[in-house]
Amino acid sequence: MTQANNNEFFLSQTYLQSQETILVIDDSPTNLAFLSTTLNSAGYKVLLERDGYGGIEKVKIQQVDLILLDVIMPKIDGFETCRILKSDPATKDIPIIFMTALTDAIQKVKGLYLGAVDYITKPFQEEEILARIQVHVKLRRLNLELDQQKQQLEQRVQERTAELSQALEELKKTQLQLVQSEKISSLGQLVTGVAHEVNNPLGFISSNLHHASQYVQDLVSLVKLYRKYFPNPGYEINKEIEVIDVEHLLEDLPKVISSMKLGTDRIQGIMQSLRKFSRTDGDMKKAVDIHDGLETTLMILQHRIKAQRHHPTIKIVKEYGNLPLLECYPGQLNLVFMNLLANSIDALEEGVGMESENGKFLTPHSQSSTPQIKICTTVDNKKVTIRIADNGLGMEESVKNHIFEPFFTTKIEGKGTGLGLCMSYQIITQKHGGTLQCNSSLGKGTEFVIQIPMNTHL
Ligand SMILES: Nc1ncnc2c1ncn2[C@@H]1O[C@H](COP(=O)(O)OP(=O)(O)OP(=O)(O)O)[C@@H](O)[C@H]1O
Ligand SMILES: [Mg+2]
Repeated sequence: MTQANNNEFFLSQTYLQSQETILVIDDSPTNLAFLSTTLNSAGYKVLLERDGYGGIEKVKIQQVDLILLDVIMPKIDGFETCRILKSDPATKDIPIIFMTALTDAIQKVKGLYLGAVDYITKPFQEEEILARIQVHVKLRRLNLELDQQKQQLEQRVQERTAELSQALEELKKTQLQLVQSEKISSLGQLVTGVAHEVNNPLGFISSNLHHASQYVQDLVSLVKLYRKYFPNPGYEINKEIEVIDVEHLLEDLPKVISSMKLGTDRIQGIMQSLRKFSRTDGDMKKAVDIHDGLETTLMILQHRIKAQRHHPTIKIVKEYGNLPLLECYPGQLNLVFMNLLANSIDALEEGVGMESENGKFLTPHSQSSTPQIKICTTVDNKKVTIRIADNGLGMEESVKNHIFEPFFTTKIEGKGTGLGLCMSYQIITQKHGGTLQCNSSLGKGTEFVIQIPMNTHL
């Protein structure tokens, strides 16, 4: 290739790619003029400075893609200029090419050591200058593109991470809602099924008991009549009368019958409560007496409230206010009562420990106390408040901060799913527009406060 052809080649290459700006810092007007002409005609935009300070100021105000830097200059030499440019984060990435004397190997090495990307030698060879500049301008452009792509990639990763964590949150919520509705409906189905199965035989027993009671009365009267008119029925009958203790039998039989009646009445009551407890709400709110819900829940938990091997009877203190009917989803509200009361019983069971002293059970926190759950309901003109408080172990702050999170539990595996409070929170806040708060102090006990607005009360 001839000199002219070479120039044309570089010219066309650089024109194609750029309008890059090259800053030339040199104290020699001849060099500046030569480089300015060469670079201009190769299609670069050229800025000229006669000393290092001027160059440093220039890059602060103008976008520069490459710097050609002379080594020996008055005021501040090329190395110092290079050091200052490389120590400023805003200018450290601009490629610097030193211009040195052909023979000066030390200067070349020092320049590269200070962070220059290359050097060109004097006297200048036009093709060499353009070739080196083109390589470094291209590298610079690629680096910038790479940086940009890296930033875009980082941003994309951040966006995707945010999207994924949101999707995870949504998934957790949906899972919770599924579990919640599954729990409500399977409990409802179970109770409805059991109630149905129990109701039929219960019906036979209670209607037959009515007849049985009548027959028993008739038989008792008849036996009494026999005894009046046949006071001496003979040896064998007298013996039998003695063996079966007829006096006691006649007196006790009606009592037996009426206690059986009482029993069946109670079972019927329980079945009715169970049906009420598990009623499926559908999408409709209903106006109900929430004391009914609390009572039914207590009844269902009765077996856990009564004295057990490792704890005495839990005392239930009720301070019920005069509440109006509340528009709510009763089945779901009952589930909240169930969760809160079951948690309190768990805390009390854990809290009272195993030992008893004079009928009192010792808590691990020294004072002997009777396990107790206090349920308090109040109303003002805007909302109904239900407080459920126990004198169990209470919670540490670190536990309290997480109790409404799904799957958070401190109970042994298999005992707690960690969903009770999370579900309750959703039911109260989202379904009823209310609030659920927890006050707890370690060793003293825990109180949950439900507040439900009465915007549509009857
Ligand atoms: N009354 C309470 N006293 C002390 N700690 C409590 C009380 N209520 C809740 N907690 C704490 O909050 C945690 C979460 O309760 P949550 O009802 O959500 O789950 P769980 O009872 O562990 O399991 P489950 O899903 O079966 O109800 C419990 O494991 C317990 O540590
Ligand atoms: Mg629970």
